[in-house]
Amino acid sequence: MYKTFAAVFLGVSLAASGASAVTIGFSQVGDEGDWRPAFSKDMQEEAKKMGIDLKFADAQGKQEDQLKAVRAFIAQRVDAIVIAPVVVTGWDQVLKEAKRANIPVFLADRDVDVTDKSLYVTRISADFSLEGKLAGAWLAQASKGTCDVVELQGTVGSAPAIERKKGFEAVLSQFPGMKIVKTQSGDFTTEGGKKVMEAFIKATDNLKGICASFAHNDNMQLGAIQAMKEAGLKPGKDVLMVSVDYVPAMKAALAKGEANASVELRSAIGKYIYPVVTDYLKNPKELPKWIVIPSDLHVAAGN
Ligand code: AHR
Repeated sequence: MYKTFAAVFLGVSLAASGASAVTIGFSQVGDEGDWRPAFSKDMQEEAKKMGIDLKFADAQGKQEDQLKAVRAFIAQRVDAIVIAPVVVTGWDQVLKEAKRANIPVFLADRDVDVTDKSLYVTRISADFSLEGKLAGAWLAQASKGTCDVVELQGTVGSAPAIERKKGFEAVLSQFPGMKIVKTQSGDFTTEGGKKVMEAFIKATDNLKGICASFAHNDNMQLGAIQAMKEAGLKPGKDVLMVSVDYVPAMKAALAKGEANASVELRSAIGKYIYPVVTDYLKNPKELPKWIVIPSDLHVAAGN
């Protein structure tokens, strides 16, 4: 009732004042896995709730499409641009163009590697390195510090693949009995994860001596689980399974005992991102270069 009244009142007062909605261009990576579409949906729903005019561009995993989208947003003279960058490199030029056009750029989720940090206002995201550390620390205690690990990496050159690997390796370096014995990219997809695990199974005589699978996201781990089951293995029992995202299908795998732990990457993050952007548009002032969204570890019962 209050909400309806507020919405009507706000509509009338916006119309009466002649104020127009804030226009934000959002360049999204694509729709790989289960986490990313949930993030896209949240960004669209949250924009609607906040009365933001959102121009949404799906780059289908291609950086060239993201560059085109950002240039289109500049040409349309949006108020602000939000980018979830596919990979960290290759952003300097287009960010300079946005700066020249006086359009502030915000990074959501993934990072960029640019020398001039003033090319974007801030990054609003989880700490991917911490996620890798949480996964590594859980595995260290579950394996009592002795473990040969196979790793399924995310998209090559993407911030989560780089930072999760670094965080995980930082923990492993503290335990002489723990090491990554095989590592390959499954591009953050279920099919990619399945193919990579099939190759690992072949190369190691059915994962002989392998104590754990660390996947940079749940979808690759879900593909790996399929591959292991097809090979007659028992994921979660024969091999410890730890990954990142905590998507619904992984929650089900944890409940079935086919996976052991997953670090939650929150997907409902529009509520963190948009207020930063709209406050900045009202009152442009320097912000910390990184606004961190918390990550939490979820462990299956009995682990
Ligand atoms: O950038 C975050 C990562 O991207 C998620 O962990 C993964 O599922 C997605 O593809």
